[in-house]
Order: sequence, then structure tokens, then C-alpha cells
Amino acid sequence: MAGVGIGELFAVEGYGVVVTGGASGLGLGYGEALARNGARVTLLDLNRAMLDDEVARLGADGLDVRGAVVDVTDHATLDAEIDAAAVHYGRLDAVFANAGIDPGPGFLGAWAGDERPRNPEGVLENYTDERWNQVIDINLNGVFATVRAAARHMKKQGSGAIIITTSVASTQNEPAIGAAYMAAKAACRHLTHSVAHEMAAHGVRVNAIAPGFFATNIGGGHAKTPEMAEAMGKVIPMHRIGDPYLDVAGLALFLASPASRYLTGQEIQIDGGWALGAAD
Ligand SMILES: NC(=O)c1ccc[n+]([C@@H]2O[C@H](COP(=O)([O-])OP(=O)(O)OC[C@H]3O[C@@H](n4cnc5c(N)ncnc54)[C@H](O)[C@@H]3O)[C@@H](O)[C@H]2O)c1
Repeated sequence: MAGVGIGELFAVEGYGVVVTGGASGLGLGYGEALARNGARVTLLDLNRAMLDDEVARLGADGLDVRGAVVDVTDHATLDAEIDAAAVHYGRLDAVFANAGIDPGPGFLGAWAGDERPRNPEGVLENYTDERWNQVIDINLNGVFATVRAAARHMKKQGSGAIIITTSVASTQNEPAIGAAYMAAKAACRHLTHSVAHEMAAHGVRVNAIAPGFFATNIGGGHAKTPEMAEAMGKVIPMHRIGDPYLDVAGLALFLASPASRYLTGQEIQIDGGWALGAAD
């Protein structure tokens, strides 16, 4: 870092960046934020159609963005695509382990006025092994495999930033989503600590972004409906839900860039104050 002006602090120009779950929502927001600041970005995602659309949209804006279809539960393909990105860029500076699903329902439904109805469909005795394993496979095992693949390159390089998307649900129960999501996000929070500790001596920083409620395609897009925006706007102290580009771009850039060069092992909540308590 040549100086401490804002340009040097947040300089990611030429960075090689990979984002899992990068075709939509928060992952797309992180990738776009980095690409608009001069990074070269690879979006990995399961959804080929969304990936193609977003790579084309960002490319048309002159941004250096490529995409590859990867299911993060297929660790061999995930390894191969992260290796390919590192070879393509000749470096790997930031990897966002972000792909995740919200496999609701949980034992409570969404707020309906002042009521929050019980949801028999989401109770524990109806929670199948199949559902549990799917969530753990994507939201925990997929994150672990992404972090491991990134670390292989960054350790050799002696630098890099790994950023895990957790959730406010890593520390606070969200009863509309269900048990495996809570367990996976809490595990990812502590995985952040474990890997950060191990990688600190190798110059690799590992931090987590814990979002609150953002209007993305998760859970079939329920977060994007006007009814949900209105209901959650009453619950969140800043009285609005998050925008998956504008409200995360700064934090993604901060955690990937030299601006956070001495920060590791931290989970940063970004939630309009949701985790603080009830809105007034
Ligand atoms: N939206 C929120 O309010 C919110 C809150 C807290 C945490 N999160 C977390 O943010 C992350 C991103 O979610 P989002 O809200 O942007 O959702 P999203 O559905 O808009 O984006 C997730 C992306 O991940 C991809 N994906 C899903 N399974 C995959 C797999 N097996 N392999 C590769 N890609 C896969 C999807 O195709 C999608 O493009 C998740 O980890 C989620 O748990 C979201």
C-alpha cells in the first residue's frame, strides 16, 4: 500500500476475485462492487441462465466478469473452477464463500400484523433428514470446501481475503427458516474464527458478513414482495429491508481491500439494526 489515501485503502484494481452464489442477490452485489472498482471477478453459480444474464449485463458495462456453473456440493468441480480462476488471473486475492439456501418453513410463519402464527408444516417432527442434509451440504459443507480451495492458493501466495456470508441467524434464532439453517450459519461463524486463526500467519484474512434481511431471490424470492418489505420495515430499526447491491457494496469492498488489512476473524452484522432489538 503506497499511502493511506482513500484510493490506496480501497484499491482492488487487478484483483482476482471469486464469488460463489454469484449470479443473484448478495453474491452478485459483492461481485459487482468489486468489479466496478477494477477487480477481475469470477461468479460461480448453480443457475446457468441467471449467470449468463449477469455476466452479459456486467460485461456490457465494460467490467471484467466471467462465470462458471458450479454446484458447491460438488467439491471436485468447485476446486477445479477456483483453480481455473486463480490460473486465469495469475493470483487469487478475494474469495466470497456465499452460496446458500433458505429452505423454510420454520415453526413460525411470517408476521401478519401483530401476529406470528405457528406453522405446523415447519415443526421439528416434520423436519426430514433429506432437508437437513441439503442445507448442511450447501450452507456449511459448501462454505468449508470454498474456503479450503481458496486457502490452498492464498497460503502459497502469502496474501488474500476470504469472506464468508453468515447471517444474523448465526447468533439469533429466526423461527421462520428452520433448524439446519441456524446450525449451518452458527457453524460458519465459528469456522471463520478457526480458519482466520490458522491463516493469520500466512497473511490471509478471514472475515464474515452477517446480513439481516435483504431483498434477494432466496427462499423463492419471498423477501422481494412488497408485503414482506412492508412487514419487515416495521420490525427493523432503520425501517427498511436491505438492498443487495447498495447496502453491501461498501462492506464487501472494505473486507476484500487493504482497508481491512489488520482485521481478521470478525463477523460483521449488516442489518439496519435488526439484531439490536425491536424497532420504535
Ligand atoms: N437475503 C437475506 O436476507 C439473507 C440474510 C442472511 C444471510 N443470507 C445469506 O446470503 C447468501 C446469499 O443469499 P441471497 O439472499 O443472496 O440469495 P439468492 O438466492 O438471491 O442468491 C443465492 C445464489 O446462490 C446460488 N446457489 C444456491 N445453491 C447453490 C449451490 N449448491 N451451488 C452454487 N450456487 C448455489 C443460487 O443459484 C443463487 O444465485 C446465503 O448464504 C444466505 O444464507 C441472506
